[in-house]
Amino acid sequence: MSRPPAAAVSESLLAFWAEAGVDAALLETAVDRIAEGQRPLAPRSAPAAAPLRPPAAAAPTRRPHAIEAAREAARSCSDLVSLAAAIEAFEGCPIRFEGTASRAVFSRGPADAPVVVIGEAPGAEEDRAGHPFVGKAGRMLDRMLEAIGLTDRVFITNTVFWRPPGNRTPTPEEQLVCKPFVEQAIRLVRPRLLLLVGAPATRCMLDQTEGINRLHGRWFEWRTTEADLEVPALPTFHPAFLMRTPSAKSMAWSDLKTFAERLNRPSRG
Ligand code: URA
Repeated sequence: MSRPPAAAVSESLLAFWAEAGVDAALLETAVDRIAEGQRPLAPRSAPAAAPLRPPAAAAPTRRPHAIEAAREAARSCSDLVSLAAAIEAFEGCPIRFEGTASRAVFSRGPADAPVVVIGEAPGAEEDRAGHPFVGKAGRMLDRMLEAIGLTDRVFITNTVFWRPPGNRTPTPEEQLVCKPFVEQAIRLVRPRLLLLVGAPATRCMLDQTEGINRLHGRWFEWRTTEADLEVPALPTFHPAFLMRTPSAKSMAWSDLKTFAERLNRPSRG
């Protein structure tokens, strides 16, 4: 029997991966693992190893230059249009160059909204459309907001503005690099309240390490890094989690009622 041509084998393998949900290559160039496996093993009697050197200084876990650049770029923006342009031009967030993001996804909703909603990261549909929460999770979020009378009254954004490869959770480092832009968006909108949807948004905005099961429904005082603005913030479950876990919907509903109560309370002064 003749062997299938290499192209057909590759096509069939790609189809199999696509069906299994793989939609991202995590390296820019292919690694030939077969050739790697054929390299001769090092002889057992290898020469004595070089003397141990003191460990190199730990690689920085943060990108101070990128964070500083983001802060400078964000603070120079006096409106949301220039902030969107600054994000689009920003090259300090590594996800931007990892392969699956085709553009920056910043926000949707009115610039004078009383509420800012912060999610995790754009997914495939958001990357296509250029706006956050426009896929299945977005439709669920819209229903949640509608239930408390907030249709078209929220400004929605995410902790990072580029779609992470394979929709993985953004790392704390990636969130830190994007955070000055999120903070500036909140400064410009000046909402009365923040709604943080999901654990990654809660971790990023409130520096909390506890899980969302413990944090949801509790009020926190969010403040900018420079402490020039404070806004009450309520964490709740991410709509994608609620779609997978319908039993959590009653807790989310109770969080939303808590949120609406505070929003509808007449403000003093
Ligand atoms: N999930 C998020 O957290 N943000 C989006 O924009 C879409 C899905």
